[in-house]
Amino acid sequence: MKFITMLILLVAVTSASANPFAKGNAETGKQLFDKNNCNQCHNTIMGGDGNQIFQRKDRKVKNVAGMIKQMHFCAGNVGITLDQQDEQNLGAYLNRYYKFK
Ligand code: HEC
Repeated sequence: MKFITMLILLVAVTSASANPFAKGNAETGKQLFDKNNCNQCHNTIMGGDGNQIFQRKDRKVKNVAGMIKQMHFCAGNVGITLDQQDEQNLGAYLNRYYKFK
């Protein structure tokens, strides 16, 4: 009985924090990404498909905070600044690779 209660609690807690980019729209994020040609350098670095940079074994981004930091850094590369909604949208898009919870 105790075990069942724990299990229910665990499920409740994990599903409550399931999506760090709940306010984001992945499609809008993808449009921002494509419009600013975000993969231009990543394509070169990875020698082809720039999206591989988000999936490589030794990828840099390890958590949500790190992802947001890197986004801002890279946004500077293309001369844009990201507001909180952009962070959410881009995060929702990039999280298809990172799958942070
Ligand atoms: C001027 C080149 C350049 C542009 C343009 C660029 N990036 Fe990057 N990006 C890099 C480099 C270089 C790295 C890898 C850094 C490393 O490996 O130390 C990187 C890495 C990243 C990573 C982390 C990958 C990992 O290892 O987990 C993310 C996320 C990212 N970029 C997002 C973006 C976004 C979003 C944009 C568009 C706003 C963008 N980048 C545009 C150069 C660029």
